[in-house]
Amino acid sequence: MKQFDFLVLGSGIAGLTFALKVAPHGRVAIITKKNRAESNTNYAQGGIAAVTSKEDSFELHVRDTLQAGAGLCKEEVVRTIVREGPERIAELIELGMKFSEREVPGPNGARELDLGREGGHSKRRILHAKDVTGREIERALLSAIAQRPSIEIFEDHIAIDLITTQKLEQGGSSVPPVQSVAANVRNPDAGSASVIAEKKGQSGSPRYVNRCVGVYVLDRRTGQVETFAARVVLLATGGCSKVYLYTTNPDIATGDGVAMAYRAGAAIANMEFIQFHPTCLYHSRAKSFLISEAVRGEGGVLKTVEGVEFMDRSHPLKSLAPRDVVARAIDSEMKKSGADHVLLDITHKPAQFTIERFPNIYQTCLRYGIDITREPIPVVPAAHYQCGGVLTNVNGETEIAGLYAVGEVACTGLHGANRLASNSLLEALVCARRAAMKLLAHPPPRVDSKIPPWQPGHAMDADELVVVSHNWEEIRRLMWDYVGIVRTNKRLQRAQKRITHLQEEIREYYWDFVVTSDLLELRNIATVAELIVTSALMRPESRGLHYNLDYPNPDPAWAQRDTAVRKPD
Ligand code: FAD
Ligand code: SIN
Repeated sequence: MKQFDFLVLGSGIAGLTFALKVAPHGRVAIITKKNRAESNTNYAQGGIAAVTSKEDSFELHVRDTLQAGAGLCKEEVVRTIVREGPERIAELIELGMKFSEREVPGPNGARELDLGREGGHSKRRILHAKDVTGREIERALLSAIAQRPSIEIFEDHIAIDLITTQKLEQGGSSVPPVQSVAANVRNPDAGSASVIAEKKGQSGSPRYVNRCVGVYVLDRRTGQVETFAARVVLLATGGCSKVYLYTTNPDIATGDGVAMAYRAGAAIANMEFIQFHPTCLYHSRAKSFLISEAVRGEGGVLKTVEGVEFMDRSHPLKSLAPRDVVARAIDSEMKKSGADHVLLDITHKPAQFTIERFPNIYQTCLRYGIDITREPIPVVPAAHYQCGGVLTNVNGETEIAGLYAVGEVACTGLHGANRLASNSLLEALVCARRAAMKLLAHPPPRVDSKIPPWQPGHAMDADELVVVSHNWEEIRRLMWDYVGIVRTNKRLQRAQKRITHLQEEIREYYWDFVVTSDLLELRNIATVAELIVTSALMRPESRGLHYNLDYPNPDPAWAQRDTAVRKPD
């Protein structure tokens, strides 16, 4: 068994920021399932939203975030994250992050941070490193990590399941089978209450009912399952957009953190709010390449395949309307015309500007034969971001003691029913630091639990492995077809039936077979798919990213109500 003080699952912005903050206070292990830079963070293009200009204000950033969130944001959380943003940005710059700058107009040649604009923002406030912001963030954070001898990184290690005191009391090292989520729905607005990380005992003193003490981890290179024990576990495993057939996300985004937390008994909130990015490159050879919203921020215009602008029919901000509005408008245009994509046109801008501002997008499109300075870019919406997740407060505390969740895996209440562009990196930065400060102020006890080693399965039948890939495809296609941008009760119910059946098949497999990362990810996307469908069925209204034709309007009774799902005790 490997023993650490802090166990960090994930090496994106949330995990790395947290690791740096706690490193002076103990031994840290970062577990990451591929190479250390591979994460959603690494592909972030647009940038980080934060108030850094005199023309901007916290109040305006708060207002834009609340407006995008369609009545479901937690205002106190929004205010905290917006207010603390500039200090975290200053720390990131001190660590070595290089944001793009521009010359201040005037005689003395001074320079200032270049601020981009994206949908739903009333001001220019997006700090960026050209169009490769995430790559630069990972570079800066990983370089800083390399200077900290107390941090050890385990690459190609995939976390299987959290080890909790409750599970240990129930006996057995392996996890119970995936439960049917539909049966687990409790009070639908349970998630609106603030998270209580500890429950009161009869004496009135705090008493944790369930504590996370470690994680079982598969070393993908050796096939061995190792036990990692720690005082604190941070889930920083990112989102789940790979649950959809078409996505902007890399392969790591399989919702592992949400699925693990759910199996361990934590509340999972607002999973119906999956954000579809309006502009993913449409090309047969491009797997999942994003065309940043910043392109529209710099004047790019959405058009039909006939070259006609259409966003003016949907929103006064036209192509720069909030993402949910733009994605639905594109979906509707495509359905009306039968076209398989729309166009994003930035050819009216000087070629030199486009090439300098968006070098990665320009070069990538050029490799696919599209010169974006001369011709419009074919684009389609694709699954992009999970607004819900493991229910936490603004300090990343979950309902399980010793378990924190930060970044895309968490649902703090910042995003509500629709995330404002570039608020995600901001949330991860602010909440990672808050989680570290919170637990360092109240260091959790060292729990002397006897953790049994993992009980491996034995079967290994290569012929049957086709079932794993088939089920992967089936889940991703049915989520795209039935649980996409526009939903109906009938389609959601159909999806639910099919997923329940697939869960049974996966369950059989899981218990018999030697675990592989494909099997683990399949089990996780099936769980997450079920959580999304269940949450969508729980919300009888349309709000933000959740649009159901059977209830086309928001219901005031559901404003400020989260959906929350928990596994039964
Ligand atoms: P991630 O960066 O996704 O990191 C998750 C980590 O967890 C990875 O290292 C992964 O390998 C690891 N992991 C996952 N499961 C396991 C497991 N079982 N065991 C071990 N390790 C595991 N947001 C913005 O604010 N601004 C932007 O400009 C922006 N652009 C984006 C562009 C693209 C193409 C994409 C996909 C997203 C973009 N986003 C943007 C969203 C943003 O990048 C993510 O929400 C954010 O980076 C999430 O950070 P994270 O640290 O929570 O997770
Ligand atoms: C983008 O660059 O369009 C992505 C921004 C985001 O997801 O916040």
